[in-house]
Amino acid sequence: MKLFDVYPLFDIEIDKGEGCHVWDSNGQEYLDLYGGHAVISIGHAHTHYVDAISTQVAKLGFYSNSVQNPIQKELANRLGKACGYEDYQLFLINSGAEANENALKLASFYNGRTRILSQEKAFHGRTSLAVEATANPKIIAPVNSNGHVTYLPLNDIEAWKKEIEKDDVCACIIECIQGVGGIRMVSAEFLQALRELCDRHNTVLICDEIQCGYGRSGKFFAHQWLGVRPDMITVAKGICNGFPMGAVLISPKFHPVYGQLGTTFGGNHLACAGALAVLDVIEAEGLIGNAYTIGEYLLAGLRRLQAENSHITDVRGRGLMIGIELDIPYKEPRLRLIKEEHIFTGCSGTNVIRLLPPLCITRDDADRFIASFKKVLS
Ligand SMILES: Cc1ncc(COP(=O)(O)O)c(C=O)c1O
Repeated sequence: MKLFDVYPLFDIEIDKGEGCHVWDSNGQEYLDLYGGHAVISIGHAHTHYVDAISTQVAKLGFYSNSVQNPIQKELANRLGKACGYEDYQLFLINSGAEANENALKLASFYNGRTRILSQEKAFHGRTSLAVEATANPKIIAPVNSNGHVTYLPLNDIEAWKKEIEKDDVCACIIECIQGVGGIRMVSAEFLQALRELCDRHNTVLICDEIQCGYGRSGKFFAHQWLGVRPDMITVAKGICNGFPMGAVLISPKFHPVYGQLGTTFGGNHLACAGALAVLDVIEAEGLIGNAYTIGEYLLAGLRRLQAENSHITDVRGRGLMIGIELDIPYKEPRLRLIKEEHIFTGCSGTNVIRLLPPLCITRDDADRFIASFKKVLS
């Protein structure tokens, strides 16, 4: 059998990782500023994480959600304390799309409505309603195109107000820093005004923190820079450092109903052990502070480079979620970074290089990137 060929691939096999670095099957080292698409939070193959997962799988990898699972409860407690949402409730699943799917479903159970407002350029996943909320017609199949979603411009509160005042909007789903959309940032004024509108019109506010969350922005959640508490927060990617896991943090105003949501694999023992180890390392190594410090260092270095290189037209982002917009397609410089400088980066659209490194990146790593980037742009 052949693989279903949906990914354009680099001709590189990655077979080992450590911290912020990976090695290919020929032994070549690479600096990983892509983090396997913002998934590696605490660094590749962290020994504490490896030990926690190995110990757990040797004891019990999985049992169903029909019995007590103390590791789930411990994770809910620890996560609530770590992110400042101790009064919220945790529902565990396996991916980002599933997290958004469940958040939107719960919002609709809550207020009985079916309309969703989403941002232009949004990405929320590839399943049923998550893909419909994704502003990319190329990946919305006819069966998913059900007219539930209106896409609105980023930060244009009047446009959002006009729709919410119709009193038929179930939920607004927001990426506070758009990932796939090219590192575009929501303003505090916009989100605070949206919060008020949602409260006034019984609309649910969901922040998709799947890419911008879990410490990446330099606070636990990106929306915490903007002074608002959403009704639901969705997370995945870095939550278990590469082991598939997603979650919805749910405000106390939603009351659980037996059987309304459910999953076979979600919250399994192995994933929970991994997620607890991730929180241990984030705390012990001060990785959220590091994301802020090295993020600021990278942004400053890139802005200095922008002043001397006319190919860079914008540098934007927060913490370790950085977009570098070019006046040329990203394709060649990105490929040269990989092939000549041995540095992985992400990308967006046609001309944005996206940096999403593990949160343990060092100043030396940042210096290496800036020197290499200067070379490939000259
Ligand atoms: C903001 C955002 N939401 C949702 C998703 C979907 O996550 P998953 O691929 O785990 O389903 C992604 C993935 O890139 C994302 O960046």
